[in-house]
Amino acid sequence: MFGEFDGNLLAGTLCFTETAQDPLVRDDFPANFDAYSSLPRSEPVHALYAYNLCVRPSHRGGNTAIRLLKEMEQHGRRIGARWLIGDGRCSAYAGSSGLDDDKVKADPRFRASIDRWLETGKRPPLKDIIRDPLLRLHYRVYDCEFLYVMPNFFPQDASSAGFRIISAKDLNK
Ligand SMILES: CC(C)(COP(=O)(O)OP(=O)(O)OC[C@H]1O[C@@H](n2cnc3c(N)ncnc32)[C@H](O)[C@@H]1OP(=O)(O)O)[C@@H](O)C(=O)NCCC(=O)NCCS
Repeated sequence: MFGEFDGNLLAGTLCFTETAQDPLVRDDFPANFDAYSSLPRSEPVHALYAYNLCVRPSHRGGNTAIRLLKEMEQHGRRIGARWLIGDGRCSAYAGSSGLDDDKVKADPRFRASIDRWLETGKRPPLKDIIRDPLLRLHYRVYDCEFLYVMPNFFPQDASSAGFRIISAKDLNK
């Protein structure tokens, strides 16, 4: 896990697992968040599976998330990993509830493209995927691709209707 401190205050965190798994093998990819976030470390490290990117509400908007993501990239390069993988929350699908500090609006066009992806198995154009703010953030920081839409990955997350979009940065490119 990486954390960024502001004095004694933990401003943001990013957790990850180092794994020998090949994220491109869809059938081996963890089916839900519990499985994804509790994989044991394995070697040789081929990929970092990142989760729980979170910035304290009082510290949002200050590039903390970007610094944490960049730090993970440096770590991945240092240890010779090939892939950085993220389970991108996609709150633009249903929009945040207003009960938390996320202020993401529902985006019907984004929702339609995710629904089509699920129906047809055909990935939507990048411009449609990055209508979501978090996926756009992943793309901006990593110039990543988006591998899979995972239904029922995190069912408790109503804003994303349980979906996660798996992002992948190839460190060899
Ligand atoms: C997602 C999150 C880490 C971003 O942190 P941050 O400090 O606001 O991020 P930064 O200031 O570095 O970058 C801001 C960018 O993030 C985008 N963003 C991503 N998710 C966002 C959210 N939930 N609310 C607002 N902006 C968000 C912003 O749109 C902005 O990008 P833009 O300039 O293209 O519009 C933070 O909003 C958060 O902790 N949210 C709750 C937890 C969460 O959803 N984590 C993602 C799990 S996969």
